[in-house]
Amino acid sequence: MPLAAFLVLCCCCCSSSAVLESDYVKYKDPSQTVEDRIDDLLARMTLAEKIGQMTQIERKVATPDVMREFSIGSVLSGGGSVPATRASPQAWVDMVNDIQKGSLSTRLGIPMIYGIDAVHGHNNVYNATIFPHNVGLGVTRDPVLLKKIGEATALEVRATGIPYVFAPCIAVCRDPRWGRCYESYSEDHRIVQMMTEIIPGLQGDIPSNSPKGVPFVGGKGKVAACAKHFVGDGGTTKGINENNTVIDERGLLTVHMPAYLDAIQKGVATVMVSYSSWNGEKMHANRGLVTGFLKKKLGFKGFVISDWEGIDRITSPPHLNYQYSVHAGVSAGIDMVMVPFNYQEFITDLTAQVQNKTVRMSRINDAVRRILRVKFEAGLFESPLADNSLADKVGCREHRELAREAVRKSLVLLKNGKSMEKPLIPLPRRARKILVAGSHADNLGYQCGGWTIEWQGLTGNDLTSGTTILSAIKSTVHPSTQVVYNENPDHGFVSSNNFDYAIVVVGETPYAETAGDSLNLTITEPGPATIESICGAARCVVVVISGRPVVIEPYISKIDALVAAWLPGSEGQGVADLLFGDYGFTGRLARTWFRTVDQLPMNVGDIHYDPLFPVGFGLTTRTVNEADAPADS
Ligand code: GLC
Repeated sequence: MPLAAFLVLCCCCCSSSAVLESDYVKYKDPSQTVEDRIDDLLARMTLAEKIGQMTQIERKVATPDVMREFSIGSVLSGGGSVPATRASPQAWVDMVNDIQKGSLSTRLGIPMIYGIDAVHGHNNVYNATIFPHNVGLGVTRDPVLLKKIGEATALEVRATGIPYVFAPCIAVCRDPRWGRCYESYSEDHRIVQMMTEIIPGLQGDIPSNSPKGVPFVGGKGKVAACAKHFVGDGGTTKGINENNTVIDERGLLTVHMPAYLDAIQKGVATVMVSYSSWNGEKMHANRGLVTGFLKKKLGFKGFVISDWEGIDRITSPPHLNYQYSVHAGVSAGIDMVMVPFNYQEFITDLTAQVQNKTVRMSRINDAVRRILRVKFEAGLFESPLADNSLADKVGCREHRELAREAVRKSLVLLKNGKSMEKPLIPLPRRARKILVAGSHADNLGYQCGGWTIEWQGLTGNDLTSGTTILSAIKSTVHPSTQVVYNENPDHGFVSSNNFDYAIVVVGETPYAETAGDSLNLTITEPGPATIESICGAARCVVVVISGRPVVIEPYISKIDALVAAWLPGSEGQGVADLLFGDYGFTGRLARTWFRTVDQLPMNVGDIHYDPLFPVGFGLTTRTVNEADAPADS
């Protein structure tokens, strides 16, 4: 071979091997360990790219250009923020993918992570299965059920292209006057700890050899979860939302903290900080608890996310001194900031503070390391774009049946027949004529409550698909039974019709967060009047649809049977299953049912504990088959 040809050949070989080496990018190599991939990527990132990763913006401002220009790391849907009314799973997938393509077109192609509040099923999405809110799920005391609910929810969320949910809320609600009490499983932290089994349902079972505190997300049918709101959100004075939790350290650690240990042990990927304060110190600025305790003592290695405008609310009024808020929040240990709109101000302020060294570069690197760890664990680098393969999971029959089972296990029977009388429940299916009444009998929006389709929830039956309690009753009774529906009949109507019995469904209308704070906890009008007019003229079952215990003592002597149904969600059939004896009541209160609001706060274990119904109370019934079976069977 001529020398010249040989030299050319060598150059080609060298250049091709040089090309091969320069083409190789470790962080893109799935055969590398996550930590090695993070190290490689972090070393390549500019300050702007790092701070972009710490920025979460709302979908309304998340154009592909914004994603690219600011290297945005995350996008969310706020409550009710959807691509279109009644958007299909495909429309969701297309929206998420469009935003993702903006991120993938950046210099390093780091995928963004999209988050949403799927807090009782995929509740923003039309036709999704709406599970009972946590206030009812805590009654089940059934971790296996909760895990299944997590599995079902993860599939429906992934069906819309989303890999991250701001759930579960593991608040320990200590005062039902709190507008978010229905997001809490119980006033008893042990029940809340039990319910953290929803996390492996959402994320997958963490491998037994996983290092402590490492986030885990196991595959395309699983999502990253978020334990919230750290810490003490359910302990504020008078239940005032976002207010101050006054409790000593022992109380904080024994009541409000235990479920975080369970969540971390189960590999929870993220933790959201609470708006509330602990003994006057804003949690969003609490370095001792966020960094000192959660990250260092508990060894949490996922990322910490702020709440919506959470750093703005460090000051009062909010956004009073945003530079201070940015410094306080990021220095406390917040890794990702749910801005969600003024992202340019956030990025500018944080960049300036790193450049003038009032925020250490090591803090930024720690935050980005944690964010990248979750993204690698969630498989976003290998599969950043979603497909439509899970679309048929949204609202599927299997999930609705699971939700129906959850409804059955969440109901609590508080009274069944007046003294010395035959129990009213199970109700006879075959009757001459029955009355169904009440503001909540035929209202899917009311039975789903807040955080359903819209942030504050809705009224009516066309918000999504589901089964109202009225339609469930109609489909359960014998065909010969005449069902009369009258939302709010007067006494004369009831007494003149001589009904075999009446089912009265009343309660609270939907609310979320501060809008739900209440000092009187009364049943929404005309509920009390409906109870009075009916239960004085016919044997009545009152079913209460509420996010918490409500004032019921003034009416209880007139009521024959009383059911706490909480916020059952889309599958109202679960209520009829119990009323008519297809299944027996098993639920036991996970919250104290007070006599009067003057007693509040009042929790199990208190010295002065004089409830109408205590935690653990719940009457049971047999199924109709059992009831009909001969005594010795
Ligand atoms: C809300 C809630 C939080 C939710 C977040 C995003 O204000 O406090 O629970 O995850 O904003 O919607």
